[in-house]
Amino acid sequence: MLGNFSFCNPTRLYFGENSLENLNTELRKYGQTVQLVYGGGSIKKNGIYDQVMEILRANGKQVVEDGGVMPNPTVEKLCEGCEIARENKVDLILAVGGGSCCDYAKAVSISAWCGEDPWQKYYLDFQDVDADTKIIPVGCVLTMVGTGSEMNGGAVITNHAQKMKIGHVFGDNVFPKFAILNPVFTYTLPEYQMVAGIYDIFNHICEQYFSGEDDSTSDYISEGLMRSVIHSSRAAIQNPRNYEARSNLMWTATWALNTLVAQGKSTDWMVHMIGQAVGAHTDATHGMTLSAISMAYYRYICPYGLAKFVRFAKTVWDVRADGKTDEQIAAEGLARMEAWMKELGLVMNITELGASEKMITEIADSTILLTGGYKVLTKEDVVKILRESL
Ligand code: NZQ
Ligand code: ZN
Repeated sequence: MLGNFSFCNPTRLYFGENSLENLNTELRKYGQTVQLVYGGGSIKKNGIYDQVMEILRANGKQVVEDGGVMPNPTVEKLCEGCEIARENKVDLILAVGGGSCCDYAKAVSISAWCGEDPWQKYYLDFQDVDADTKIIPVGCVLTMVGTGSEMNGGAVITNHAQKMKIGHVFGDNVFPKFAILNPVFTYTLPEYQMVAGIYDIFNHICEQYFSGEDDSTSDYISEGLMRSVIHSSRAAIQNPRNYEARSNLMWTATWALNTLVAQGKSTDWMVHMIGQAVGAHTDATHGMTLSAISMAYYRYICPYGLAKFVRFAKTVWDVRADGKTDEQIAAEGLARMEAWMKELGLVMNITELGASEKMITEIADSTILLTGGYKVLTKEDVVKILRESL
């Protein structure tokens, strides 16, 4: 395990078919006014809105509605949410939805009372929350699986005018106080969103796994999580109402990005950085921006982290090593990963997401370059990977 670290995850999880009941217990801990955050209306169609409202009413809460959170929440919507929070002096922000609602709720929670322009402060200047800023507590009722936002400090915001999509991972003071994870709530997800979420989980694990040369327990945990995602994804595609598969996916998503498997790792995150830049230019679904560039990216960096790609092939994809070179084993692992991605029906190129050759330089310009992976990319490398992904 690399370096020194401290691990604390303060989010209380309630998991299972009856987990929404626990909202009663949690609501009692907070004041009167609840800002109810939700997206474009799926929760009204599938009945989750009614179930949550009934519990809020039964607990005598005054509900301030904040619907219309779009996938890839924008800086304009963030400012709107901050006004709602301030005007109503809300005591709790309850996000009912996917990663977009959870991220947005966290962004509002730290921005409403920060007294500055949150985009500039948190996303361009990358400042932390000031010690004296009031942070509004956040709770989540998760309806879409993938981001891990229900148990982490991430809050990704998009600025279309500046063509920037930036994620800031805040400390544990910003994590949701509680999250309710009912796998049944995810049954109504359209298949496109379900598979995008599945790939998001898988890629979160890859981003942490493909770094470092040491013998790390985090990598062994990651391999188990990856095998579970592959297995459950196949079952969920066959039958979206397979509780075992959907519950495993939900639990795996949370553990893939709640800081556990990042411990002792430098971590890569370049698929997300390039994917976010693609997202800023196309507003495409997050998981699909990752799938569209992944194969080009991993084939590009494979020679620099060959030993890990060999291990990945053998341990995660059951590639047999006999009589093969390391390069062949690694390539076979990546080929099996690609076949699985196609089997799920993921988008495998950025053209399908609306990107084109003439946008490539701009997308590369808005890609943040990180240094924790097997190859520190230059802008020219990013251009090559994007071209390969067209
Ligand atoms: O808006 P509604 O009508 O609710 O519909 C949503 C949305 O259209 C729909 N949906 C969600 N639950 C549903 C459902 N439809 C039917 N039945 C249900 N049960 O699904 C669509 C996508 O939802 P969204 O919340 O946007 O998806 P996701 O969970 O993938 O979140 C994406 C956002 O999270 C950020 C992404 O960048 C993106 O902005 N991320 C956050 C991370 C974090 N906090 O750590 C890490 C991730 O890497 C990611 O970057
Ligand atoms: Zn992601």
